[in-house]
Amino acid sequence: MSSRQALKVGVLGLRRGMTFATQFNTLPETRTVAVCDQDSARIEHALNTLGSDARGFSEYNEMLATDLDIVVVASGAPDHVLHCCQALESGRHVLSEVPADISLDRCRELVASVRKTGRKYMLAENCCYWGFVQEYRRQVRTGRLGDVLYAEGEYLHDVRRLYLENLDLPKDAGFRALREHPKSRRTWRADLHPINYLTHDLGPLLEILDDRCVSVCAMATASACGEGFAPAAEVALFKTAGGRVIKLLTEFSLPRPSHHWFALMGTKGSLESPRGPATKHLLYCEDENMESWSEMAWSTRLLAGPAAAWKSGHGGADWHISREFADCILHDTPSPIDVFRAMDYTVPGICAVRSIEQGGAPVPIPDLRED
Ligand SMILES: NC(=O)c1ccc[n+]([C@@H]2O[C@H](COP(=O)([O-])OP(=O)(O)OC[C@H]3O[C@@H](n4cnc5c(N)ncnc54)[C@H](O)[C@@H]3O)[C@@H](O)[C@H]2O)c1
Repeated sequence: MSSRQALKVGVLGLRRGMTFATQFNTLPETRTVAVCDQDSARIEHALNTLGSDARGFSEYNEMLATDLDIVVVASGAPDHVLHCCQALESGRHVLSEVPADISLDRCRELVASVRKTGRKYMLAENCCYWGFVQEYRRQVRTGRLGDVLYAEGEYLHDVRRLYLENLDLPKDAGFRALREHPKSRRTWRADLHPINYLTHDLGPLLEILDDRCVSVCAMATASACGEGFAPAAEVALFKTAGGRVIKLLTEFSLPRPSHHWFALMGTKGSLESPRGPATKHLLYCEDENMESWSEMAWSTRLLAGPAAAWKSGHGGADWHISREFADCILHDTPSPIDVFRAMDYTVPGICAVRSIEQGGAPVPIPDLRED
């Protein structure tokens, strides 16, 4: 496809959004032609980095008024549905950052908008594209673990610095400095329930298990940062349609090295990903004469894909998201993580917050396919 025919991409939000602005320029069939951010310095940086004839906009509506095929929504999580629906209603295909949103009502609006417009929507859940996640999936599909009855996921990442605009505290600034900073300069992350940011771990587990969550009980710790800031950690217990239990822990403000962690326990064996200083994945299968865990050299990278993929963020996953979204438009095939799967990853976190508000009581998780 020549550059004249390339799918034209506009990107909203030029921090995380820069990843996709760059990735869509590495594909021959897509070209980033517009970028948008309220912050003029970010626009300038984006235009310099892209080194192309892309145009910069400070107003989203103005970017949407230009000739675009795809809009990437990488604004703050509470605004995702608002921005996605505006793009869908203007006839664009939408690649949305995670989570899909943090409000159930807005999630319902998104589903309705995708249904009404018939445009493609994909949730950019990059962790589903990790090589070892696909390997776990293969192990489960071949039956090596037997029936998987229980799974766990964790995402721990000290992002206190992102609680403030323009990162204007040093990385090692203490809790007191954070509290004393003007409230008006806090970002959407400062009071985001950690469990709303569960898709990086729940998404892969649901793909591995081919399942969805149907109810949740959850609890939160106090905030580590003080009044008006999010709880430090939140933990949810999900029951799935397949009868499994999944435990999910998210934590974003305690001083410790970050990690994602996954565990699966089945009737024939178990799997665990590296945690803390461990470097290898661990597999135990009862019928295979293993005395204890076997170390597995599985990689975060997906082996398929060109070298360009490996250079992209998150072990190459960001390239694969861009590639697959472009392909589903070019070949008019279903979106790889469509709006309903996006809801399967996102709505359990929204319901977990409701459970926390009700002292940990069980809360049913609606299937928005049935709306
Ligand atoms: N998948 C991943 O690995 C990953 C990594 C980081 C962030 N994210 C997600 O990406 C999204 C963005 O994250 P971030 O850290 O870049 O957030 P951020 O808040 O730091 O940046 C968002 C940017 O969008 C701009 N923006 C917001 N609303 C706008 C509007 N109406 N008009 C113009 N500009 C607007 C802001 O000025 C800001 O520069 C979030 O939803 C986050 O959850 C995903």
